[in-house]
Amino acid sequence: MKAFWMASAAALALAGCTAIPAEVETTPVASAMQSEDVRVADLLSRMSVERKVAQLIQPQINSFTAEDMERYRFGSYLNGGNGGPYGDEFAPGSEWLRLADEMYIASTQPLGSGEPVIPVIWGTDAVHGHTNVVQATIFPHNIALGATRDPDLVRMIGAATATEIEVTGIDWNFSPTVAVARDDRWGRTYESYSEDPQIVAAMGAALVEGLQGRKGDADFLGTGRVIATAKHFFGDGGTEQGVDQGDVNGDIEALKSVHAVPYPAAIDAGVQTVMASFNSINGKKMHGNEELLTGVLRGELGFEGLVVGDWNGHGQIKGCTNTDCPQALLAGLDIYMVPDDWKGLLETLVAQVEDGTIPMARLDEAVGSVLRVKIRAGLMDEFVKPSDRPNAGEWEKLGFAPHRQVARTAVAKSQVVLKNDGILPLRSGSNVLVAGSAANNIAQAAGGWTLTWQGGGDLDNDDFPGATSIWSGIETAVKAGGGTATLAADGSYSTKPDVAVVVFGEEPYAEFAGDRKNLAFSDEEGLSLLRKFKADGIPAVAVFLSGRPMWVNRELNAANAFVASWLPGSEGAGIADVLSGAIPATGKLGFSWPEKCDQGPLNSAEGALFPLGYGRSLADTAPLRQLDETCDALMAHDGAEWFVNGRFSDGITATAGGTDLPNLRGKAAGITAIGLDRIAQEDSRTITFAPGSSITIAQDSEGTGAYRILYRVRQRPTQPVMLKTGEADVDLTYPLSVAAEKDWREMVITQACAASLGDSLTFTSTGAFSFDIATISREEVAEGTDCSF
Ligand code: BGC
Ligand code: BGC
Repeated sequence: MKAFWMASAAALALAGCTAIPAEVETTPVASAMQSEDVRVADLLSRMSVERKVAQLIQPQINSFTAEDMERYRFGSYLNGGNGGPYGDEFAPGSEWLRLADEMYIASTQPLGSGEPVIPVIWGTDAVHGHTNVVQATIFPHNIALGATRDPDLVRMIGAATATEIEVTGIDWNFSPTVAVARDDRWGRTYESYSEDPQIVAAMGAALVEGLQGRKGDADFLGTGRVIATAKHFFGDGGTEQGVDQGDVNGDIEALKSVHAVPYPAAIDAGVQTVMASFNSINGKKMHGNEELLTGVLRGELGFEGLVVGDWNGHGQIKGCTNTDCPQALLAGLDIYMVPDDWKGLLETLVAQVEDGTIPMARLDEAVGSVLRVKIRAGLMDEFVKPSDRPNAGEWEKLGFAPHRQVARTAVAKSQVVLKNDGILPLRSGSNVLVAGSAANNIAQAAGGWTLTWQGGGDLDNDDFPGATSIWSGIETAVKAGGGTATLAADGSYSTKPDVAVVVFGEEPYAEFAGDRKNLAFSDEEGLSLLRKFKADGIPAVAVFLSGRPMWVNRELNAANAFVASWLPGSEGAGIADVLSGAIPATGKLGFSWPEKCDQGPLNSAEGALFPLGYGRSLADTAPLRQLDETCDALMAHDGAEWFVNGRFSDGITATAGGTDLPNLRGKAAGITAIGLDRIAQEDSRTITFAPGSSITIAQDSEGTGAYRILYRVRQRPTQPVMLKTGEADVDLTYPLSVAAEKDWREMVITQACAASLGDSLTFTSTGAFSFDIATISREEVAEGTDCSF
């Protein structure tokens, strides 16, 4: 956004901008010279209760139309992690800009009787680049940026991200996350720069400055800049056992001394918005916590921007629903993020202002906060539609070469070398074998919040135009050094290589779907490759992709060198820069690395295998002692739960016709498995069978117990549907056709109907059939327990 009030109409015309004149009573130039307070008071004095409330309502793009926008005049809207313009998550940048224009124009249609026109703003989660949009530069996630310890670099990332956001006509970024993750089992650990609040404070403030520009500078909130958000206030990284959206307990001053530390820094940097957190503090949900939202944030910390809620976070307050929650506004929330239920909420809020439940003064204060941010962002000076603003529609700037260069530098600077016996740097001229299914998998390297909310799944490299995989970065570097590089995901070779690079790690996840019970990295693909190379006498480098430190003692023992690569994003070449020695290894851990697999919250050198701040240069080839490989958590497969919250537990897979369907998603051999919302977004699947197709869900170890499946029939079977487990075949045709009348229900498969319960379930349908699955688990049941459907 740019403050256009200084420009004359002629200059605007020259710049190719269409300026829609603002209200007659407040000519832009005159109003822009008035103080913020005067302007806000003037606007408020001319707004009806409905219009005021609408400023506080933030729906998501696929729940309203341009007609709704024109009629209700929402103050803002968002795209969720799974939402794209016109229902297309993979829509090109031009469609994002088209929607931005359409909504902006609808929001600025003239109103009667002196009512002020207030342009809408669009918020998005550009949490590691503008990654909801195809082709954008994908920067490493925050956990990696923390390892660079380089605020200047983070500031550049903010600026690059802001420009890419502007290209698509969007105004507002829900970033940075300034969570101080203290229990790495939390699924959002990778959104945290560090477990050390000071590091988070420095990095968060730098990103704010990059996104918004520096306070006092001419471009503050101007060209090449967007509105930033410090989130989630507060305590998101401090929940018990790292449970997402969970409870934070303890002495409030002690909690503030960790989790509130990044906020003063972000506020000093001029952050315009703060997002309330889903968690509770000592039993009270943050969205309804007046003491903290108003008392601490506005009072003690002096925050003067607007407070936005998180995705239906208000609905989680005791006594609230998504459509009825004066408590949040009264506690100090200004904008309700209400993705779908905007209409009901709008109506109740209006009624609650009219009946006095919500004092007019509080309404005015909240609306005033929204208006101030819009004024500061230059939106109230002259009405310029998104596509007429600087950077808009300059498609070469989406995934811009200079931005990709910044990202590549960030990747290189975030690599943390944990072990190196001298195999690194890779000698030039060597014959390098690159193995592991993650090596050429950009989606996996990018992690969650990438094109889709959860990331990964069925995304493939074609979804990332302009990006470079880790493999292709290594290939280029090795060839430039006169060597040869070969990719073999399974580690096979015909000529013995001089060295192998094994790329492996966590599969993408976001939010609660990434919560874990322990930090044991149990997927053994990388481990078996490392062990195979060791047995073959081939030195091997482990490149570990993860959103958190994990227990990887086995891999550390098996590898000659081990690099924590985090979630690097679209510029995989930054890894080769370090492996080849072209850029020195300077990354330092922002989190303590666990030595034990059942490690709870660590946050100190005691009990850490590698403490905060650890990271070797390539010259440091001191041997790493042999590490203990025992891990009870690996034995006790927490496999009771096979599928929950939209994810498989470790060791559980789904296949159709031999093709893997990661986390029960994808399309193969007549089976289509797609995400479905039951309680939370994409926590379930719809599985559709073409006639004659089958799907197998299996555990890679030996389990025991009966199966319990929460399901719902979508399309009644007209021909046989069979379930095979172990040696048993269970005919599901009749029970499933009965279930077709019902809603969600449980199927329990015991030995009563499946004499031998095996470690896999194969569903086969002769005809077309479709059902939804929410959870699958195994459990011990009393002998003789009947099957039920
Ligand atoms: C997340 C926020 C995000 C919002 C909008 C929520 O679920 O907690 O971080 O900004 O969704 O996508
Ligand atoms: C949205 C995310 C949001 C999440 C909350 C998803 O549908 O896309 O942005 O954070 O729901 O559960």
